[in-house]
Amino acid sequence: MADHGQASFWTQANALLRKNLTYQRKHIWTNVRLVLVPLFLCLLLLSIQLLLEAVMNKVLDMAKCGSKDAPNGDYCPIPNPPLLPPMLHIPEPESRAVKAGLFPYSDLPDLSCRKTKTCPVTMLLTGNNQSLGKALSGTMFGGSFAVNTSDLLPSLADNVLGTTLGAGMDSFRDPGITSGLPIYSIQPQCNANSTWPLSLGKTRTEVKCVQGLCLWRNSSAEINKEIFKGSWRGTPERMTNEIAAAYDLLSTDGKNLDVNIWYNATYYSGGPQNKPLVRVPRLISLVSNAYLKFLKGPGTKILFEFVKEVPKNSTKSNSDIASLFGPLFFTWVVLLLFPVIVTSLVYEKQERLRIIMKMHGLGDGPYWLISYAYFLTISVLYILSLVSFGSVIGLNYFRLNSYSVQFVFYFIYLNLQIAIAFLVSTMFSKVKTVTEKWIIVLELFPGFSLFRGLHEFAQAAFHGNGVKWGDLSESGMDKVFYIMLVEWFVTLTVAYFVDQVLTSGKSPCLFTKKSTTSLPDPSVESQSSDNVLIDMEKADVTHEAETNQREKVELMRIEGSTGHAIVCDNLKKVYPGRDGNPPKIAVRGMYLDVPSGECFGMLGPNGAGKTSFINMMTGLLKPTSGTALVQGWDICKDMNKVYTSMGVCPQHDLLWETLTGREHLLFYGRLKNIKGPALKQAVEESLKSVSLFDGGVADKPAGKYSGGMKRRLSVAISFIGNPKVVYMDEPSTGLDPASRKNLWTVIQRAKQDTAIILTTHSMEEAEFLCDRLGIFVDGGLQCIGNPRELKGRYGGSYVFTMTTSSEHEEIVERLVQNISPNAKKVYHLSGTQKFEIPKQEVMISDLFLMVESAKSKFTVFAWGLADTTLEDVFFKVATSAQASLS
Ligand SMILES: *[C@@H]1O[C@H](CO)[C@@H](O)[C@H](O)[C@H]1NC(C)=O
Ligand SMILES: *[C@@H]1O[C@H](CO)[C@@H](O)[C@H](O)[C@H]1NC(C)=O
Ligand SMILES: *[C@@H]1O[C@H](CO)[C@@H](O)[C@H](O)[C@H]1NC(C)=O
Ligand SMILES: *[C@@H]1O[C@H](CO)[C@@H](O)[C@H](O)[C@H]1NC(C)=O
Repeated sequence: MADHGQASFWTQANALLRKNLTYQRKHIWTNVRLVLVPLFLCLLLLSIQLLLEAVMNKVLDMAKCGSKDAPNGDYCPIPNPPLLPPMLHIPEPESRAVKAGLFPYSDLPDLSCRKTKTCPVTMLLTGNNQSLGKALSGTMFGGSFAVNTSDLLPSLADNVLGTTLGAGMDSFRDPGITSGLPIYSIQPQCNANSTWPLSLGKTRTEVKCVQGLCLWRNSSAEINKEIFKGSWRGTPERMTNEIAAAYDLLSTDGKNLDVNIWYNATYYSGGPQNKPLVRVPRLISLVSNAYLKFLKGPGTKILFEFVKEVPKNSTKSNSDIASLFGPLFFTWVVLLLFPVIVTSLVYEKQERLRIIMKMHGLGDGPYWLISYAYFLTISVLYILSLVSFGSVIGLNYFRLNSYSVQFVFYFIYLNLQIAIAFLVSTMFSKVKTVTEKWIIVLELFPGFSLFRGLHEFAQAAFHGNGVKWGDLSESGMDKVFYIMLVEWFVTLTVAYFVDQVLTSGKSPCLFTKKSTTSLPDPSVESQSSDNVLIDMEKADVTHEAETNQREKVELMRIEGSTGHAIVCDNLKKVYPGRDGNPPKIAVRGMYLDVPSGECFGMLGPNGAGKTSFINMMTGLLKPTSGTALVQGWDICKDMNKVYTSMGVCPQHDLLWETLTGREHLLFYGRLKNIKGPALKQAVEESLKSVSLFDGGVADKPAGKYSGGMKRRLSVAISFIGNPKVVYMDEPSTGLDPASRKNLWTVIQRAKQDTAIILTTHSMEEAEFLCDRLGIFVDGGLQCIGNPRELKGRYGGSYVFTMTTSSEHEEIVERLVQNISPNAKKVYHLSGTQKFEIPKQEVMISDLFLMVESAKSKFTVFAWGLADTTLEDVFFKVATSAQASLS
């Protein structure tokens, strides 16, 4: 039996890693499914997008881009925008300025022109030099309308064209042309009904002549007033007198053209940012052309042939659902991992696997390292799959943003998410509570920065350039990175320490729930059936047992204990009073020593404090006062060292369903620092010792084991690595008699070099396995001794039963009294009587003779003689102790 020493950090990590790898290999499909989730989600997104597109096309009756029915250029690409002849905006015929009401300017046309719809279009002019102004206004408008159809646009530029329609949202099409309504040719004079046909591209339209009037005003203030009054709000008669445009030539002379222009922009549709100035250039060209003519003579001209918007990409692909709903959708996709991690962490706690691993020497460091590494690996794979599927499917969201920015962003976020999951999991001990709603509040915080980052990706992808490292600070993304980094670090630290505090037993956890359910189980008393005799004289045993142990322990502590594996020194546990109840004493100052090689059995009713005691010894609870030494290590100070030489067989099997028996033992063996061939050998021996070796049982998943096999595996686990101390909590509960016997043999074989503390409700088990027994009642050991001693001391009597007809009852009683005057009748019911006969008073042969003589005198239906059982002892001690308390 070699001592393997404490496993190093890396040995523990290695053990856990190998176990987890084995475990995850068995759950490979769960992992693959998890990693494939993004694929399904991306496909889902894609199909939603396709569906939506189809529906949208239908709803909007949107024909293919470029066809005649395409409603506008909002979505379609425009690789080659059309050339548009520049036009002036002119007022509708019925609102052009006339001489009427508050608008008495004498040079304006008569109101009568409105009836014939021949009102001229008025422009105003001012400046420092009137003669120059007059000269310019005379050449402002062209002559009669004329085009060369084989050279359309340049020849159109010679004419001054106007429209009453506003420009559209964009500058790709001009409603003035495409609507098919007449275009106006502004000329100094019109002949009646002069119109010309014109085909521009696909539109056929006609050109109408309208007179252009260029009037001089004395100052720009005057023009301002006139334009203001001309809009309909300016006149009480609600008559509009619109001026098409106006120029202030300022100090223009033969060397400089210096001009201000009034133009009306309110007719453009769309918001203020959507007002293309497409109607302004022609106004400028008009005045500069007139100025050139003034300088150089009527033969010169500047041609303004067309305006043309720059080519444009299709906005259709940019309006993809991924980029629009991306942040929300992907936040959700990435957050999906969070509950997976928390649930998995809490599962290990709820199933107490974490604690049992700890009890077998797995430190918190290796546990954290390996679990963290696992979750990080899974998360990274998950994100990689999300990004690569997304890219393959063609979502700009992933393709346009720099992959390295995305990777670093997700990587930091995933670390943060895992850290938060660890923190959250420390607060829950049950999977169920995790899913409750306030956890959502917790996830909001990192989810917030995640959303922010994803939103930036979406915005950048939507605008077509994507996020690059260079523009992080511009968009504020750098802060998101910093926040996540800091938060991750802080959370991880906090989570580690909270976990340390909670699992090192400051607060009651896991096992303790049972023991806090107060007071001894009253059902014990109802079980204490007919023949129990409450023996008040034995009340002093408490003191006796206690004093003996106390003296022994104190002596050992003075000498420096060596031979004893377990020494409890005044170990005490008191639960603080809650809700006004007084504090509950679970273990009242206990002294106990258990040497190596001894199996110490603990009997006692539920709630007596056994579990609290075991929990203190296994490090789940901190003692209120006192301490215990295990192999010389103090359980209050050196619990981690204690764990290296401790084995635990919990009441309920804590096994991984999918791992085989061999894999369990390999894992726990490695935790106990057994390596190489020695490990293999130890596992084989262990499997053989619990009869799990033959028939390939060792390589079957533990989930398929029968109850007995599971128990045996648990026992094997608790003994692997030759621990010096093993605690067994009701090891054979729920087993059939054959399995039980089997298990007992296993335990008995294993105990040679080990101190075992075993709790049980089965007297048979206690008698079979234990070298010494203690009866634990109400927080203390009421008596200690080996089973035979106890029976002799507390049992000391035979139980004699005889059944006759009722009329012979008295004779039977008298016969019994004859051979034993101190016999007590403990039970009596219609002919059946039960007596307790002190052993020292009778010889069994006398009893047999008495029965024979009775049989010869009357009919004896049945009779029986029994020795006291350990059960009787237990009931007596338990009930007497409880009775003396109440
Ligand atoms: C006004 O312009 C004319 C040329 O059109 C020029 O002869 C005259 O000197 C200018 N008058 C003033 C005051 O500048
Ligand atoms: C019309 O334009 C074509 C091509 O520039 C030119 O050859 C032709 O002479 C023009 N016709 C007139 C009447 O100006
Ligand atoms: C503009 O000035 C001229 C002469 O300088 C003057 O006769 C005329 O009344 C003025 N017009 C207005 C509207 O003030
Ligand atoms: C500008 O144009 C709009 C629309 O054609 C018209 O209602 C408004 O009166 C015009 N404003 C002026 C000052 O002429």
